[in-house]
Amino acid sequence: MRKLTAGLFAAAAMMTATVATAADPIVIKFSHVVAENTPKGQMANKFRDLVAERLGDKVKVEVYPSSQLYGDNKVLEAMLLGDVQLAAPSLSKFKKFTKKLQLFDLPFLFKDMAAAEKFQQGPAGQKLLGSMKKKGIIGLGYLHNGMKQISASKPLRTPADASGLKFRIMSSDVLSAQFEAVNAVPLKKPFSEVFTLLQTKAIDGQENTWSNIFSKKFFEVQEYITASDHGLLDYLVVSSTEFWDGMPADIRPQVKKALDEAIAHGNKIAAEKATGDRTAIEASGRSKVLDLTAAERMQWVEAMKPVWAKFEGAVGTDLLNAAIAANN
Ligand code: SIN
Repeated sequence: MRKLTAGLFAAAAMMTATVATAADPIVIKFSHVVAENTPKGQMANKFRDLVAERLGDKVKVEVYPSSQLYGDNKVLEAMLLGDVQLAAPSLSKFKKFTKKLQLFDLPFLFKDMAAAEKFQQGPAGQKLLGSMKKKGIIGLGYLHNGMKQISASKPLRTPADASGLKFRIMSSDVLSAQFEAVNAVPLKKPFSEVFTLLQTKAIDGQENTWSNIFSKKFFEVQEYITASDHGLLDYLVVSSTEFWDGMPADIRPQVKKALDEAIAHGNKIAAEKATGDRTAIEASGRSKVLDLTAAERMQWVEAMKPVWAKFEGAVGTDLLNAAIAANN
């Protein structure tokens, strides 16, 4: 009997030891503000699935879409506190951490997505990934959404049409200056509030990509969308340097590889949605899409481009020139 009891104790001790040494998976909470049927939503889900497939129970990715966990204005603080490990805010939302990324908000900077991609993957774009390291944030890669369009409750063909109208913008001083340049009133508001602000007519319009206008149903509460392609809405996928550098050295490259593949997947979806979601909006008949003539578009360029001079000092002339050169 005594022998049996001793055996049971030994077995129990071994089990306890097994439980204690089995490491819990590293949890990566990925918080974002858009719907799942968007480039960022699809990229985040792909990343979660690739990690689950390859790293099994070593790493677990939890995705929180549609501002469920944090809105844009809180997610980076939450990341620095260790409550979120991955996020991909729009490049317009890093003002508190670096002025360099303001570059991407300059109106009419990139002629198309190929130019934006060329700049981002070139030496100047890659250097920018490390521009917030001193503040504890590391850029892991760029993710596309696309070119922005302007929606409004009235047809906007020339800058004069926008005069006096209230537009929701992301939290960017460049975007503020851009709308002030056409005598409009910019209002910095979180993405999660845009639909209600438009629906209740608290604002007259907003600027966004076809994908965001479609997935968040802005087209159902805006009579007109001007196909302006006047600016870029892309993302920077970021983590805290503390979390990223603290990951085990054998795991980090595998997580990065999954992330790179997920970004490539998201970029492919972004390209598809830029045309597909525009077509879907037009087919809905809820919003009229206005294409500009070359002369009308030139008026927007002439009105908005002077904004560059205001931000060139903060952004840096070399960086601005590298971005302009990517158009060639
Ligand atoms: C996003 O695409 O993440 C949101 C963009 C916005 O705030 O307009």
